[in-house]
Amino acid sequence: MSKNVLLLGGAGFIGFNIAKYLSENRDYQLTIADNFARGKEDALFTELVKKHNIKVVAGDYTDPKTFDLLDKSYDQVYMLASVVGVDNANSIPHEIIRINTALIYNTLEWVRYATIGKVLFTSTSECYAGSVDAFGYKTPTPEEVPLCIEDISHPRFTYAVTKMLGESGFLNYSRILGFEATIVRYHNVYGPRMGFKHVIPHLVVRYRKGEEPFKVYGHDQTRAFCYITDAVEGTVLAMEKPSTNGQIYHIGTQEEISIGELIHYAGELMNFKGTFENAPTYPGSVSRRCPDITKAKTQLSFEPKVNWKEGLKQTVAWYNNYLEEGNKVYE
Ligand SMILES: NC(=O)c1ccc[n+]([C@@H]2O[C@H](COP(=O)([O-])OP(=O)(O)OC[C@H]3O[C@@H](n4cnc5c(N)ncnc54)[C@H](O)[C@@H]3O)[C@@H](O)[C@H]2O)c1
Repeated sequence: MSKNVLLLGGAGFIGFNIAKYLSENRDYQLTIADNFARGKEDALFTELVKKHNIKVVAGDYTDPKTFDLLDKSYDQVYMLASVVGVDNANSIPHEIIRINTALIYNTLEWVRYATIGKVLFTSTSECYAGSVDAFGYKTPTPEEVPLCIEDISHPRFTYAVTKMLGESGFLNYSRILGFEATIVRYHNVYGPRMGFKHVIPHLVVRYRKGEEPFKVYGHDQTRAFCYITDAVEGTVLAMEKPSTNGQIYHIGTQEEISIGELIHYAGELMNFKGTFENAPTYPGSVSRRCPDITKAKTQLSFEPKVNWKEGLKQTVAWYNNYLEEGNKVYE
């Protein structure tokens, strides 16, 4: 029988791509719930919704009454709705706390009274970044390291604080209230249509403006970038494989590269012939981050397929094309 599947925050970068994947590979009835604060009702979204008959329930889900617009029963709920981004955390930390906490709490209380099979909550590597820096836990980092906030008063960490609440909330509500819950922690997911607030689209914009010398902020920091199609596959596996109830999975790749390598290769793709200048990084940014994805590989048969150079090439080409068509940079 066809499953009834809800994507809360499903108009955003990752949610849209999960909806696309499920539409093309499963025979499910999909519902996308979003307030379009960041998810966009662009041509790609409208086309997907129309082609696959996806139901869209627009509204602000920080208001518990908005949940009344949804069905009373879903087999699967992907909980992606959140305010994201370091810039937002630094400039509107109070809103990160208010909105993300309300979204998590309202979803938990709605799940309590609805009939829900399984919820997948989307968390972040930021939850354990502090543990690696403060206590020297190893990199690549597995799921079981303790979570830690290095500086509780720093606005940047409000986002991680709310994601910790979500992890604890979904795992504990589910045990007591009898639905299944799984957590995925994403690690630097990137690809087309991700907005302009992430490092890669930002680089495209800076190269197009002709910055010279080109500043290489945080050149020696390392990250492992995960192409969107791989992140989607890992997420759907975590939702659909049996025996993932109560589990946390690191979804990403173990191709750890320096920000310098990323910026230099993006420059090559942009035909940049100028000079580079190393520059300090943003405060609170960890020096190394790379997930240990052994658990996802062994328990989910998760196997990332797109290497960083290929993914970067596709993403840079998409953004160049998008801007050359006359579209504007948006938040
Ligand atoms: N992209 C990454 O690398 C990454 C890394 C770690 C964690 N995550 C998590 O994965 C999830 C999806 O990330 P994304 O990159 O697609 O982000 P995104 O900002 O593109 O998507 C989040 C969606 O939530 C929606 N939303 C926000 N407030 C809402 C509200 N009040 N009511 C209804 N909808 C609301 C936004 O409009 C947006 O469409 C998020 O929870 C994010 O924290 C992403």
